[in-house]
Amino acid sequence: MTNTNNIRNIKVKDFLVSYSDAGPVDSQAVIFIHGFPLNKSMWNGQADVLKSKYRVIAYDVRGHGNSEFGKDSFTVEQFARDLINFMDILRIEKAALCGLSMGGYIALNAILNYPERFDALILCDTNCIADTPETREKRMKTIETTIQNGVEKFAEDNLKNLFAPQSFMLRKEEITAVKQMMTDTSKESLVRTLRALSEREETCSKLHKIKVPVLIMVGELDTITSPSEVQRMHEKIRGSMLKIITNAGHMSNLENPTEFNDYFLDFVNSIYG
Ligand code: MLT
Repeated sequence: MTNTNNIRNIKVKDFLVSYSDAGPVDSQAVIFIHGFPLNKSMWNGQADVLKSKYRVIAYDVRGHGNSEFGKDSFTVEQFARDLINFMDILRIEKAALCGLSMGGYIALNAILNYPERFDALILCDTNCIADTPETREKRMKTIETTIQNGVEKFAEDNLKNLFAPQSFMLRKEEITAVKQMMTDTSKESLVRTLRALSEREETCSKLHKIKVPVLIMVGELDTITSPSEVQRMHEKIRGSMLKIITNAGHMSNLENPTEFNDYFLDFVNSIYG
């Protein structure tokens, strides 16, 4: 998972955003948003296959990876505003947008609030529902244990759930990289983002407003965002395409990159030619 793409920092309103930027600068932009509590490096494998044709940008969400916290609050709405401000600074008027899990929540929020800025949407292992009271309670407990026991313990408790059992046995490099991303995230960021996720609003009731082409992908063994939940989201987005990634859990792009990248490339090529 080494990164051969340019890593840069840019000031976006109140904070410095760290991002990777690969491919021809004047070609169509594809922007990637990572899951929680990860960072832009989770998309290195996708950048490698797309960058000969597209400008591929992956950035660290506020407080994650090497992006600063800034002064604004942590909410999914703020994360979506950050994305638009980031695109403004980079002078990217329109892009294809891809988000995995938390990245998908941000992408959905962005496309619903700023539809004119996007040509297409790729939603991976994510959903449109808000937290249920049970999930919220679980997140509050996780906040408590993370404050008490730290980020290492969070990683220990949560790493395994992200992968399908077989990937967890076989994909040692990816497991190590994801664990590193988790433990590189500060305790403060973990806690503030868990709160933001627990407070996010549902977007299911607004999905009919999405007018751009949408590709939805989910690992067949994803236990965090189940394929049946994702199927319901697919049914609500007119004309969307659903692809189930075999032998993959929640980290579908890392667990079965061949299948993931093939679907991704076909979809983006069908839009930009
Ligand atoms: C993620 O992978 O981003 C998280 O599972 C999202 C969440 O906890 O809702």
